[in-house]
This record gives sequence, structure tokens and C-alpha cells, in this order.
Amino acid sequence: MKHTIKRLAIAACATVALSAAHADELKIGMVLPLSGPFAAHGVQIENSVRLYIKQHGDTVAGRKIKLLIKDDTGIAPAISKRQAQNLLIQDKVDILAGFGMTPSAFAVAPLATETKTPMVVMNAATSSITTKSPYIVRTSMTLPQVAAPIAAWAVDNGIKTVYTVVADYGPGHDAEAQFIKTYTAGGGKIIGQARTPVGHPDFAPFLQKVKDAKPDAVFLFVPAGEQGVSFVKGFKERGLGEAGIRLIATGDMTDENVIEAMGDPALGVITSFHYSQAHDSDENRAFVKAYTEAYPGQRPNFWTVGGYDGMHVIYEALKKTDGDASGDAFMAAVKGMSWISPRGPVSIDPETRDIIQNVYIRKVERVDGVLQNVEFATVPDMKDPGKE
Ligand code: PHB
Repeated sequence: MKHTIKRLAIAACATVALSAAHADELKIGMVLPLSGPFAAHGVQIENSVRLYIKQHGDTVAGRKIKLLIKDDTGIAPAISKRQAQNLLIQDKVDILAGFGMTPSAFAVAPLATETKTPMVVMNAATSSITTKSPYIVRTSMTLPQVAAPIAAWAVDNGIKTVYTVVADYGPGHDAEAQFIKTYTAGGGKIIGQARTPVGHPDFAPFLQKVKDAKPDAVFLFVPAGEQGVSFVKGFKERGLGEAGIRLIATGDMTDENVIEAMGDPALGVITSFHYSQAHDSDENRAFVKAYTEAYPGQRPNFWTVGGYDGMHVIYEALKKTDGDASGDAFMAAVKGMSWISPRGPVSIDPETRDIIQNVYIRKVERVDGVLQNVEFATVPDMKDPGKE
């Protein structure tokens, strides 16, 4: 009898010790495109998250960070949702993070609301995403935020007519609407609009229509990756440049993952964006050095910085809440947070939980033999204009 009680007591203590150890663990469940056409970008986020942990330690506010990473294959909202459900129900994660593509973030937002789980969006960039759950914070950008400055630049630089070409889904619609709004408000004229299929588009017929319409410039948004490369190649092959048409875009087109594959036809292209590997600051130089040392042969891009800053938000919020990751405490800690990112000074808008940041106008140049987006003008402290 005595022995049995003792054994039970030991067992009880072991259980308490075990659950205390588990309580100290903080699980971050990430949903990312790790296969399919956007896999390279998902890997960029995963890499930067691991780099952040390596640099800042794997324990914050007494909680040991454990990453659980799931592949959603890109634009596949049902898979994103299933992966997030598994992370929440089976793995009991404390925080959801990642979300490369807009449909993925839309699919998971209701789960964040139902379970009051913080959801850190590290890329997906349709403006309305943060309105879909009060537990979402975003550390990337929105398309209206980066499209407005290039529209203003076009007005100021003698581009009188534009043909817009955008991918036919959330971020493309946002980019198109904001570009047209800012550009026409400044007196510019839109002479054509096209929406291209989001998966594996053939740009040839669109490029021909643009050429026939003879605009001063074509404005492009396609999700970063191979699509930008094939658009630029088609633009060159069909002689749009020789016909006097300029190519302007959000920086998704010339991101560091693919810019070298575009080669010389990318030279001189003007884009607007929140991050360039060539950004001239000590913080960015340190970041680029650390990233390229950790992942030789790879270049950091906007997905990398979105992931890295997402981890910064998680770490700093947990420090403020003393390790409490419950939705309401975490979100209160996130609102209004400000820091110096590799991209420049940033803060989290307390109203929208979106990031406020500089947006830069850049020109593609060769720097030490490498194609880079060289920043030459800055629109400071931009809020997302897409929610106005
Ligand atoms: C998105 O799906 O939200 C998205 C994907 C790629 C980009 C930008 C936005 O380059």
C-alpha cells in the first residue's frame, strides 16, 4: 500500500515535471510553399527564420522555440487549411507563421480567429488579409503599398500612358487598382488592362496587345519567380523596348532569386519595393553577410526579410508578455512595435496590424558584376493605402 502511494506520487511528480517542460516549449507552426512553383521562396522564409533563431538563441522569455514546418505547395488553399488544422489540433502550436501566397493566408485566417492563435504573415500581400482576423500581424508588405510609389514616379517622369498587366488574383487586383488610382489622379492615362492566369501563363498574346496599343509604359505585377523572367524575355524578344515602351513594376519582378536569370534585358528596369539586397545600411550589410554565410550561393530577398522580421516580432512580443503567446496578449504586444529592419525603419500599425515602412524606387544595375536593384529615391513611412 505504502509503496503504491509512493509510486503514484513519483508518477504524479514526473507528470508535473513533464508538463512543465512542455509548457515551457513554444511551438511555431509554419505553413509555407516548399514544393511547386514558389518553393524557392518558401525556402527563403524557412532559412531566414532559422538564421534568426541561430543569431538570437532558441529560448525567449523562458520558452524554448520549436519550429514545425508544413508544405502547402503554393496556391492551394485547401492544403494550407488542412496543414494549419493539423498544426493547431494535433501539434497544438502556440503561433502560426509563414504564409507565402494570398489564398493560403485567406484560408487559414478563420482558424486563427476561432482558436485565438497569433498568425504572423511573412509574405502574402493582398491588402485585406489583415482584416480577416484580429490575430493576424503582417511583416511583408501590401501590393497597394508598393504600387502607389511607382505610379507616382511614372507621373513625375513623363510617362503619359500606361497599359497594366497583372496576375489574376488578390495581389494582382490590388496592384492594378492602386496603380490606376494613383496614376490617373496624377493625370496619367490608362490605355489598356490585362489580367493573366495565375498559374503558368503564356505572356505572348498579352505582350502583342501591349505592343499594338503603344503605351509609354507597361506596369506589371506577377508573383515573384519564373513568371517575371518569362515576361522580361518576351518583352525583349517581341521588341517592345525598341518600340519605345518602358517596363515598370513592383519589385516582385526583379527579386534577387530570379534577377540574374533575366540577364541584361533587366538592366534599367525601374521598380518600387520595400527591400533590396543592395539597401545601403549597416543593418542590411550585417544581414546580407550573415545570410550568405549561412546559405552560401543564395541571395536574401523580400521573402527572407519578411521571415526574419516576423521572427523579430515573435521574439519581441514574447519578451513583452513574459512568454505569454495567447492571442490577445500577443497582439496587444505587437501593436505599435517599431524597430530597425534590414530594409530600414519599420513599425506595426496599431490599427491594421500591417507594417509601416519605407518604399524605395530602384533601378536594375550591375554592381560588381551582379544585377542589383539600386535604390535611388525613398517614400518614407508608408502605410498600406489599400484600406483607405
Ligand atoms: C501573394 O500571393 O500574396 C504574393 C505572392 C508573391 C508575390 C507577392 C504576393 O511576389
